[in-house]
This record gives sequence, structure tokens and C-alpha cells, in this order.
Amino acid sequence: MTFARINDIQVAYTDTGIGRPVVFIHGYPFNRTLWDEQVAVLSSSYRVIAPDLRGFGESDASDGPATMGQMAQDVALLLDHLGVARATIAGLSMGGYVALAFYKQLRSRVRALVLADTRAQADTEEAKQTREQQAEKALTEGMAGIADAMLPKLLTPETVSKRPEVVKRVRDMMLKTKPEGAAAALRGMAQRDDQTDLLPKISVPALIIVGADDAITPVADSEKMHHAIAGSHLVVLENAGHVSNIERTEQFNYALLDFLKESSS
Ligand code: MLT
Repeated sequence: MTFARINDIQVAYTDTGIGRPVVFIHGYPFNRTLWDEQVAVLSSSYRVIAPDLRGFGESDASDGPATMGQMAQDVALLLDHLGVARATIAGLSMGGYVALAFYKQLRSRVRALVLADTRAQADTEEAKQTREQQAEKALTEGMAGIADAMLPKLLTPETVSKRPEVVKRVRDMMLKTKPEGAAAALRGMAQRDDQTDLLPKISVPALIIVGADDAITPVADSEKMHHAIAGSHLVVLENAGHVSNIERTEQFNYALLDFLKESSS
């Protein structure tokens, strides 16, 4: 286990492989093991870094909302700690919100962006209220109810009925999440900026990947990002929902490797 002291907390992270650095930022309410299959495949050609965001996995939680900007700063300080000046930043869902915040704050440190199952828009007022209810629920009842309610939105009905090992993996990640970490991230996501205006300013190679059946950040959100980011690539994975890197690992990795090869040439 590797930890670094970042700001006010201990951050757990994976750092493996040799080559151009690629940073993987997980979504909510997961942890860095979300990326296990990507880490395994990429580490033969790249240096792969995957942190547990504050409040998730083995990283400490902190008081107050965990904003996307704060999480992006944690990632930047982790990269400082590891001596990495510039990296490809890949984020899934909330990880994508963090990746966009990272780009906004520190664009010179971004070689390329991978935005998976995510969106640029901020929350609606209704979504903000739901986040607050979910935060209270996590703190008072724990993660089991949240995991049960989220599962059918994270995976396709086919995966839910036919791939118990995938269901278990996703569910276990959610159950391991600390309620206070989940609540802080929910409140942080509710506060996040709308990054729509940032998209046309993105001048690094960008890959946008989304599950065709993503019920949380639908294909339309990815299409909007694709149209706004000049030269971006859009890959829609069939038979995949929100956690498309786990549901369609092979296709996800293929798209990722292809993009990384192209964007480093
Ligand atoms: C995620 O997967 O990170 C979250 O579902 C994103 C969100 O709730 O907006």
C-alpha cells in the first residue's frame, strides 16, 4: 500500500509501470480499484497512477464538501509528490468532473484528456436537492441503501441479470465507501461549476467514451462534449451502461490504447 500526505489528508494510490504517465480518476462512490483492468493492461507501456480520491477507498475523508477543484488539487499535489510534471488525465463520471476541473486549473500539466461516462454541465436545482438527501441518507443509514438504488442505473439490465461477478464487484466498491466520504463528494458535486464554456478551450487530444445505455450520464452528454471539443474522438460502447470500463473492458481498453498511441505520437 502506498500513501502520500497531501494537503490535510493521507491519500492512497497506485503507481506502476514505466512510460508516459496516465492518471486514472475514479467515479462516485467507487475507488481506484475501478481501474484495475486498465492499470493491468496499460502498465506494460505507461506509468499508471490511480489515486483514491479524498473520502474514498483507503484515502482519508475530510470535513465539509469535497469539491471537484479540491480533488483536482489533490491529484496535482500527488503528481508533484511523484515528480510527474505532465500526464494524460482520465476520469470516469465524477472522475471526469475532476479531470475537467484539473484542466481548468492546470492545463499546462495535461497531455491529453479521457472523459468517460461523464458530462460538462453542472447539477440542476433538483439534482442538487437529491444529492443533499443522498448525503443525509449515507450519513444516517450507511451505504447499503445507496448501493441498492444505484446498481440498476450503473449497469445494463443484461449485466445485472447475467453477470453476478460484475454486480458483486461494483456493489462491493460502493459498500466499502465511507459514508462521510460519500456525503462530502455528493455535496462537492452539487457545488461544481458548469464546465460547458471550458470545452471549446480544450486544446489537447481528447477521447470521450460512453456506454450506449448509460442511464446517469447519457450519450447525449458525451455528444455535446464531442461537438464542443475540437478534434475530440467519441466512442460509444454497445451493451454498456455507466461503468463502461468494467462492463466492456476489452472494448474500453482498445479505445483507450488506440487513443494513447495516437496522442503520444
Ligand atoms: C459517478 O459515477 O461518479 C456519479 O454517478 C456521477 C454523478 O452522480 O453525477
